[in-house]
Amino acid sequence: MNKDKVIIFDTTLRDGEQAAGTRLGAREKLELARQLARLNVDIIEAGFPASSPEDFRAVKLICEKIRTVTICGLTRARDEDIDICGKAVAKAKRSRIHTGIGVSDIHIRGKFGDAKYGRTIGAKKANIIKMAVKAVKRALRYTDDVEFYAEDSGRANREFLYEILEAVVDAGATTLNIPDTTGYSIPQLFGELIADIRANVPNIDKAVISVHCHNDLGMAVANSLAGVKNGARQIEGTINGIGERAGNAAIEEVIMAIKTRKDFFGIETKIRTEEFYRTSRMVADMLGMPVPVNKAVVGDNAFAHSSGIHVDGVLKKRETYEIMKPEDVGSPKTRVVLTARTGRHGLKHRLEELGHKLNKIELDKTYKRFIEIADKKHEVFDEDLAAIISDEIYAVENVFKLEYLHVACGTGTLPTASVKMVVRGENKQAAACGDGPVDAAYEAIREATGLSPKLENYSIRAVTSGKEALGEATVKIRDNGRIFIGRGLSTDIIEASAKAYVDALNRTEAVKKS
Ligand code: KIV
Ligand code: ZN
Repeated sequence: MNKDKVIIFDTTLRDGEQAAGTRLGAREKLELARQLARLNVDIIEAGFPASSPEDFRAVKLICEKIRTVTICGLTRARDEDIDICGKAVAKAKRSRIHTGIGVSDIHIRGKFGDAKYGRTIGAKKANIIKMAVKAVKRALRYTDDVEFYAEDSGRANREFLYEILEAVVDAGATTLNIPDTTGYSIPQLFGELIADIRANVPNIDKAVISVHCHNDLGMAVANSLAGVKNGARQIEGTINGIGERAGNAAIEEVIMAIKTRKDFFGIETKIRTEEFYRTSRMVADMLGMPVPVNKAVVGDNAFAHSSGIHVDGVLKKRETYEIMKPEDVGSPKTRVVLTARTGRHGLKHRLEELGHKLNKIELDKTYKRFIEIADKKHEVFDEDLAAIISDEIYAVENVFKLEYLHVACGTGTLPTASVKMVVRGENKQAAACGDGPVDAAYEAIREATGLSPKLENYSIRAVTSGKEALGEATVKIRDNGRIFIGRGLSTDIIEASAKAYVDALNRTEAVKKS
């Protein structure tokens, strides 16, 4: 392997999705994987196939359709996980299995506390090495590209870490993932950890060291870069830095640091950085996690100058206040506006530019909705299109359908709502009152469907500006201990709220069916 090249391993669809509180459907995952392939990442971690039948299907579908990138599936060090993952990645052009086990004393005591794993910490550690070796060997039945993660390496005892890494390389692992699972490390220490692994694991030359950093102390990107500076040659991260808790290392930040400070890092990646903005927006829209305006690299203000001195300086010479060019990350100079006169062809073209490749039926559906909105709003922005796509194309099967909603409210009156719905193929009507118009609508929907999951969170935002802006409502409900997110879109915010609730209910059903 070229020592100046760094492999980029994207885990947006696994570690990122895990954190979003919602699950993407196989079709949504495929669309995002296509965009990650355009971005030219080396490896896509598409999911954790043993975690659910949905995730198994998504990983399998991505392996069948995306042929230019290595597709990876995650497992625990368990035979059943590895066999399921092996089946999910069987059809990939290039596949990888990512297996591993907790290695810090805290993880060992917590996860392997039972005496069956050994009575002393020493006995447990000996067992853990055996389990790790066995897992790597089993994964090798399905692919010759096996990555081993030593979970919580950031807090692990060094001698044990060296020992387990040596054993799994001997067993055939070709990539060693050193995760800072809890985001506990700081750059200098994480860099030293990677340097120490290189110096103390005798067979280390047979494997690539990978870094996988979490952002609990806001240092995931800095730690990843320190790892690379000390010899790691694979970086794991997610788009927009989404991930467990405070997230993972944001790939766009790591890459732009490497590119902008090539003088310091002296390494390269094959990422097409001009795809960053588009990828960032697709991830934000599909997972319902908006990008903060001041986010490095892809935030809307990342290249905006407002103070007089800065504006003047940039106009005279761009480099005065800009270290990267907006076009290097694909940040649009102008916002594209479509109108009812744009036509089907123009709409298709713009959707493709935004990363959505639709078939004819999907395009027809989207165009119909686009025209309805363009008639009401006159101008349709990219953000509106993203919302339409998520509503029309990536919605799950409608077991519950809202046919009619009427809400009455006003000062001094009790808000009431009546709904007509199709519930599992049957027509139902219900009426209810509530604390406010949205509450009344939700009560009526609960009455009609006979379901009453706990409402955890509700929010509404204007997707674009203007009094005819589309409102996007997002609701989080809890059903059987699991969180589901529903979204709804309309120029009428009560209707958007009701649609979001019905969408969330449909998502609970989709999971029950899978
Ligand atoms: O953070 C972590 O340790 C992980 C592993 C499963 C790789 O995500
Ligand atoms: Zn992680």
